[in-house]
Amino acid sequence: MRIGAIEIWPPIVLAPMSGVTNRTMRALYKPFGLGLTVTEFVSSNALKYGSKRTMEMIDQHGLERPVSTQLWGDDPQTMAFAAKVVRECGADIVDINFGCPAPKVTKTNGGSACLRDPDRCEAIMRAVVEAVDCPVTMKMRLGWSEEQLVYIDVARRAQEAGVKALTLHARTAKQFYKGNADWEHIARLKRAVDIPVIGNGDLDDAQLAMDRMRASGVDAIMLGRATLGNPWLISQIRDLMEGRAMQPAPSAADRLRYAIAHYHAMLDEWGEVRAVPQMRKHVALYLKNVPGAAQLRERLMRLDRAADAIALIEETIVGLERPLAA
Ligand SMILES: Cc1cc2nc3c(=O)[nH]c(=O)nc-3n(C[C@H](O)[C@H](O)[C@H](O)COP(=O)(O)O)c2cc1C
Repeated sequence: MRIGAIEIWPPIVLAPMSGVTNRTMRALYKPFGLGLTVTEFVSSNALKYGSKRTMEMIDQHGLERPVSTQLWGDDPQTMAFAAKVVRECGADIVDINFGCPAPKVTKTNGGSACLRDPDRCEAIMRAVVEAVDCPVTMKMRLGWSEEQLVYIDVARRAQEAGVKALTLHARTAKQFYKGNADWEHIARLKRAVDIPVIGNGDLDDAQLAMDRMRASGVDAIMLGRATLGNPWLISQIRDLMEGRAMQPAPSAADRLRYAIAHYHAMLDEWGEVRAVPQMRKHVALYLKNVPGAAQLRERLMRLDRAADAIALIEETIVGLERPLAA
């Protein structure tokens, strides 16, 4: 896939996930086989004030490029200003969010709420394309509700406005995460536009991802929740894309060894006070299918010191390997 002049290989994109895909995560997961990573979404209004937290969200590690920086907002001029800021801060691509269904975003007409007004979507896209010298992309849902499926209309306007690629998360805003992503809509979108289309939603298995990609004809796939605690899904899909046999999933002990490496990377970059709460979520996911996971998660939630959490993971690894050694 090419986005403007940027070559993306493998055509696997790490989904933007607020509170999750900071620079550390993007750099950690990149070597598993990501062709593109996207920052957490950033408020265009917040960028006007340049708050420290907001600037951290657009910060890059350096290892994870190309990086797309995602913006949300409902005002074309503010979005254009924000696009210039993130471009100056190193964004390779600027992505516009028309997908977020969270009330704190939609109550100010941002994210998926923009889809209720395709003219406004178009004005935002035109202003952002005009503002920067790098490719602009857009990520959306099907529409606000089942009765207002505007994705083809908005996609055609995007193409006209000079947007260089589109991602579709095939749910409506009203659905939030309920039901299933409907890949038939993604196939329909691919047939309706000439610019690259990235398909997104519910890809949690390598073979399923390949099947969905082939059936819909998309140029790339975007993976979100299923990669958390399981970045090996990315390398398994890359194996299939590059015609190799798929690597087996790692053992539970190896998964937890990687969780410790992830923990150290977060500690190094964010310090204990910020890394510990974030790592509770991640370790809980690395623990999936580990015997006694529920109890381990509960113990982990009560630990405030990184050293104690890491010791608990190490103890779990020893427990997992003891029967093998015997
Ligand atoms: C915790 C979390 C945070 C998210 N934050 C964003 C975001 O900042 N921007 C965005 O476009 N989508 C966001 N999403 C949606 C994902 O990018 C993706 O579209 C969605 O999870 C569906 O893909 P999946 O089924 O592979 O997870 C978020 C999803 C989750 C679970």
